[in-house]
Amino acid sequence: MEKLIVEGGVALQGTVRISGAKNAALPLIAATLLAPGRHRLGNVPNLRDTRTFLKLMENLGVRHERLGDVLTIDSTDLRSAEAPYDLVKTMRASVLVLGPLLTRMGKAKVSMPGGCAIGARPINFHITGLEKLGATCRLERGYVDAEIDGRLQGDTVYFDIPTVTGTENLLMAAVLAEGTTILKNAAREPEIANLIDMLTGMGARIEGRNTDRLTIHGVDELRPADCDIIPDRIEAGTYLIAIAATGGEGTITHCNPAHLPSLLEKLRLTGLIVDEGDSTVSIRWPKTKPRSLKSVDIKTMPYPGYPTDLQAQFMALMALSTDVCVITETIFENRFMHVAELQRMGADIRIDGHSCVINGHGLQGLSGAQVMATDLRASSSLVIAGLAASGRTEISRIYHLERGYENLVEKLTGLGARVWKEQE
Ligand code: EPU
Repeated sequence: MEKLIVEGGVALQGTVRISGAKNAALPLIAATLLAPGRHRLGNVPNLRDTRTFLKLMENLGVRHERLGDVLTIDSTDLRSAEAPYDLVKTMRASVLVLGPLLTRMGKAKVSMPGGCAIGARPINFHITGLEKLGATCRLERGYVDAEIDGRLQGDTVYFDIPTVTGTENLLMAAVLAEGTTILKNAAREPEIANLIDMLTGMGARIEGRNTDRLTIHGVDELRPADCDIIPDRIEAGTYLIAIAATGGEGTITHCNPAHLPSLLEKLRLTGLIVDEGDSTVSIRWPKTKPRSLKSVDIKTMPYPGYPTDLQAQFMALMALSTDVCVITETIFENRFMHVAELQRMGADIRIDGHSCVINGHGLQGLSGAQVMATDLRASSSLVIAGLAASGRTEISRIYHLERGYENLVEKLTGLGARVWKEQE
């Protein structure tokens, strides 16, 4: 196993290019199951999670070739409709094959993902939604065994909570259903609009893009598509926070600033100057010295609210602020695993139910320590803390980071950071 070594205390400077979004790439790869033929996806990040997903697709009979960031996927011959436990347990997003397999093959057998480090994460809304469209779903021996007699039938599905992958699964199921499906209280994350663009390119008829009410008029068949993955807003936010935490200045490129509405406002409230271009965001400090960050409260919410996937990173930043703030997590019940690790680095944080009270100790407030990565975003908050801290930080179990950050070491090194991998 590898660990990440960070020699902190260097103010990051320069430019970093943002990759395609992991959480858009996975549903778009799943969508290729809907139409036989050769699909082309551009701007696909090369990550542990995209590789795992492609392995799952290979298992189903789907072939692919990668040339740079372009994936050609051939889903002509499907030989299986089963997503086995061994693959699903390493990546919950595997459940995204449920909707498309069911509608194309008439059946799907997908292992239940089980709990994960950040919460129980049930998939009940995926299942009840598919049942509403006429599927029969049985839960047996840890698997969801779903089948349909003929075609799925359009109907109205209301989500109690806007679920991202649940909305994606139902969209992919409904596009080939008979009649019209309405998804109410659907999630509005930009990754869903990306999926809608892909499905529309395949011949699907969907209204309500970027809203919480999606109307899908089922069609008889779809054709292969050509679509680009949107930039990764969570990776973009992570680099902006990392630059800010080190007292640095810099620019992220190849991103979509419109996808970061809440974070950019929160960064402005800390006192930073944030300049948005068409596909760039720059941050710099006001002329007053010494540099310091104001404390800012955040509360995670479905999009366009503050993303839960940037909560841990912002907490590391607030540990370096000058006052007290409260960070509240409303999406997942166990997403404070990073707190104990940040405390080992000197952060003054108290957990109070679904909130954390952070007493910032200023930009020099953290010191390097040995810490452990627990999940993808918690790990990136430890990297940010390590970059800002004095001395050396060792982060073990960095396979979590490799799930979602493409070329992390190279990108950070390009910004001047002293960071490298070593064997544990
Ligand atoms: N929920 C249910 N039942 C369901 C589905 C969801 O109770 O059937 C609850 C969840 O437990 C949670 C809330 O609804 O409390 C929202 O969860 P959602 O379904 O939206 O999460 P997800 O689709 O499983 C995606 C991202 C996550 C991101 C969340 C929230 C992908 C592949 N994953 O997960 O990304 O945190 O939306 O924005 O898109 C990450 O990239 O690190 C990551 C965890």
